[in-house]
Amino acid sequence: MTVIQTDNAPGQFRDRFRIPRGPGGADSLYLVGNSLGAQPITAADAVNAQIERWAQLGVVGHFDGPTPWLEFHRLGIDILAELVGARRHEVVVMNTLTINLHLMMTSFFRPQDQRRRIVMERGAFPSDRYAVVSQLQWHGLDPHKDLAELAPRRDRLLHEEDLEDYLERYGDQVALVLWPGVQYATGQVFDLARIARACRKAGVTLGLDLAHAVGNVPLALHEIGADFAVWCSYKYLNSGPAAVAGCFVHERYRDFAGPRLAGWWGHDEHSRFRMGPDFKPMRGAEGWQISEPPILTLAPLWASLDLFAEAGGIAALRKQSLELTGHLAHRIQECLADRINILTPLEPHRRGCQLSLQVRGGREAGLKLFERLEARGVICDWREPDIIRAAPVPLYNTLDEVDRLVELIDKLLDA
Ligand SMILES: Cc1ncc(COP(=O)(O)O)c(C=O)c1O
Repeated sequence: MTVIQTDNAPGQFRDRFRIPRGPGGADSLYLVGNSLGAQPITAADAVNAQIERWAQLGVVGHFDGPTPWLEFHRLGIDILAELVGARRHEVVVMNTLTINLHLMMTSFFRPQDQRRRIVMERGAFPSDRYAVVSQLQWHGLDPHKDLAELAPRRDRLLHEEDLEDYLERYGDQVALVLWPGVQYATGQVFDLARIARACRKAGVTLGLDLAHAVGNVPLALHEIGADFAVWCSYKYLNSGPAAVAGCFVHERYRDFAGPRLAGWWGHDEHSRFRMGPDFKPMRGAEGWQISEPPILTLAPLWASLDLFAEAGGIAALRKQSLELTGHLAHRIQECLADRINILTPLEPHRRGCQLSLQVRGGREAGLKLFERLEARGVICDWREPDIIRAAPVPLYNTLDEVDRLVELIDKLLDA
């Protein structure tokens, strides 16, 4: 079946990206925007422009020209704030995700008396768990007692209701809930407004890991009232390996006076260069910055965000994403239902770009299929114990590619 592309169809920005080549030299079927997004063609120019400014201007580049480095970390902040549903002063770009998670927990995990537990999902991305365990230990707490991991049900999904029940029963012992926007292995999208409501009711701080949500699904961080959120920019934000990450701090903490790990870039910019001994934080999220931002790795992020704006923002892309991933789900159910199980919930509001697939024949059959797909130029990924993740991305993947994937799976599973 050939699907006709229109201007607003998924993949309309494909020629604005460099898609890695497959074995025969043709474009690969690149379905890993949930891992490392494809490279915008403007990324190299954006980096080179800063390299050139460095050569031409040297230190003066900090102050001169249309994009002085002193202001560079704010260049695309309005687009980013819109992507996550935040106000400009609630968002900052800095560091990498796990570092930002630590910085946030340093300020917002404040165990006191019996309220000292952290709640997260069982099966969270390991880095989050390592960070949480080390924070508990830092406070002299015992992760065996003070870390609660909510288990998925038999369908391997997490249910918002289970977190609500937990908080209803034990909320007075919980200091922090750390929750994902989208679960990395299953692709399940959570009702973050509902989770925020449950936390608020229990008087619990809510932090979000949005690694798999930002640039994938619309977010409304300000409105739902999350306390903080962190994300990376190398997945759906297409900003390159280990790109500069992002961080949200709700405006209710604009004049935060609690503990934080400080550095000169978080100091009030009007007196920063007076080089005084006492730290006076910037108001809002920028007050958590520590070091000068890395200009060369920020440049691709801003180049990439321009494409999001040009595409009409996350609402427009979400529409295309629902069509694209819906088409994949539909085709799998139509042609492969007896051999492939879709782990991701299929209701539109509970899935983003990614579908997590299981071969009904079990782990070995799944791994074999994954390797065969790889040999044919399909780039998706494998997550133990038995998941193939495929994430068609509306900026650069097309409905035709989805059809090709299903045809290939059909052929290779029978081989
Ligand atoms: C859900 C999630 N959290 C955290 C991380 C860790 O990110 P980083 O290496 O940027 O700290 C990742 C990385 O892929 C992730 O998927």
